[in-house]
Amino acid sequence: MSDYSTRILAIETSCDETAAAIIADGTTMLSNVIASQTELHARYGGVFPEVASRRHVEVIYSVVEEAMREAHIGFGDLDCVAVTRGPGLVGSLLVGVNMAKGLAVARNLPILGINHIEGHIYSLWLTEEAPHIRFPVLTLVVSGGHTELYVMTDHGRYELLGAALDDAAGEAFDKVGRLLGLPFPGGPAIDRAAEKGNPAAFRFPRAVMEAEHGYDFSFSGLKTAVMRQVSQYHSPATMPTADLAASFQAAVVDVLVGKTAAAATAVGATAVHIAGGVSANRALRAAMRARLELPVRVPPLALCTDNAAMIGAAAHFNFIRGRRDALDFDVVPSLQLV
Ligand code: KG4
Ligand code: ZN
Repeated sequence: MSDYSTRILAIETSCDETAAAIIADGTTMLSNVIASQTELHARYGGVFPEVASRRHVEVIYSVVEEAMREAHIGFGDLDCVAVTRGPGLVGSLLVGVNMAKGLAVARNLPILGINHIEGHIYSLWLTEEAPHIRFPVLTLVVSGGHTELYVMTDHGRYELLGAALDDAAGEAFDKVGRLLGLPFPGGPAIDRAAEKGNPAAFRFPRAVMEAEHGYDFSFSGLKTAVMRQVSQYHSPATMPTADLAASFQAAVVDVLVGKTAAAATAVGATAVHIAGGVSANRALRAAMRARLELPVRVPPLALCTDNAAMIGAAAHFNFIRGRRDALDFDVVPSLQLV
C-alpha cells in the first residue's frame, strides 16, 4: 500500500526535451527522466522542429519506461496520465499526447492535457518551500518562448499582468548568444561569459520601463542595440565578449526585476516565484533577491528548464479538483493560460 493519495505519470515533449516523471501528491518526484536534444540542435544554432519530433518518437518509449522503473511502480499503481498539450511545437506535442492517449486507453486511466506554462508555475511546488506557499503569489515565467507576469490567487487561478510584446527573454538570450559567437543555447552561455565581464561596460536600453507600458516587456530593441555594438568589431577575436554578455544580461535583469518588484507591491503578493529556463540565470536570481523584501523562490536548476515533473505537479492540483479530460482533446501550439 502506498502512503500517497495520487501518483501521476507525466509526459512532456513540447520542444526539445523528451521527458517523463512520476509525481506523488503533486510535490514528490518519484522519478524525473529527461532526454535532452540540445546537442542534436546545437549544430543548427536553434531547435529544428522536424528533427525534434523525430527524436521524440525515437526515445519516448524508453524515457517513459525508465521513469516507471526508477519510481518502482507499475501502471496499475497510477491514478492518471498527464501530458503537455501546448504551447509548443505541434509535431513535438503530438508525440507526447499520442503516447499519453495510448497509455490511457490501454491501462484504462484518466488523462489530463496540461498547459506547459502552468507546468513551469508548478515547478515551485516540487521544492521544499512548497508547504510555505500562500496566495496571492506573483510568478514571473521567463523561458525561451514566454515572458509573463501572473498573479496566482489560488490553485488554478491566474491573472495575466503583462507579457512580452516581441522577443521572449530566453529568445533574446539565445539570439544575443549567437551574435556573440557563443554556443547554443545562448542563455547558459551568456550566464557563464558574463561572470568575467563588466555589466556597466555598455549602457544598453532598458525598454518599456516607463509606467505607461504597465507590466509588458520588450527585448527586441535591446537585441538590436547589441547587434549594432557587435558590428563595430572587425573580428570575433577583438570583441569584448564578456563585457557585452554582462551588459546585455544586466539590461534584461534590470527590466525583469523592475517590473516584477512593482507588480509584487501592486498586488500585495506574499512571495515572488520565478520559473522557466531563464530562472536558472544567476544574475537574475541575485538581483531579484537583493531588490525584494518578500521571499523570492526559484526552482532547482534541473526544474528551471523543461521537464515532466512540473507537468505532473500541475496535473495533481487539477486532478484533485476533479478535472478529467476527454480522450479526444487536441494539441494547441499557441495555448494560453488565461
Ligand atoms: O523553459 P525552457 O527550457 O523552454 C521553453 O519553454 O522555452 O527555457 C529555455 C530557455 C532558453 O532560451 C535558454 O537560453 C534559457 O531558457 N536559459 C537561460 C539560462 N538557462 C537556460 N537563460 C539565461 N540564463 C540561464 N542560466
Ligand atoms: Zn518551458
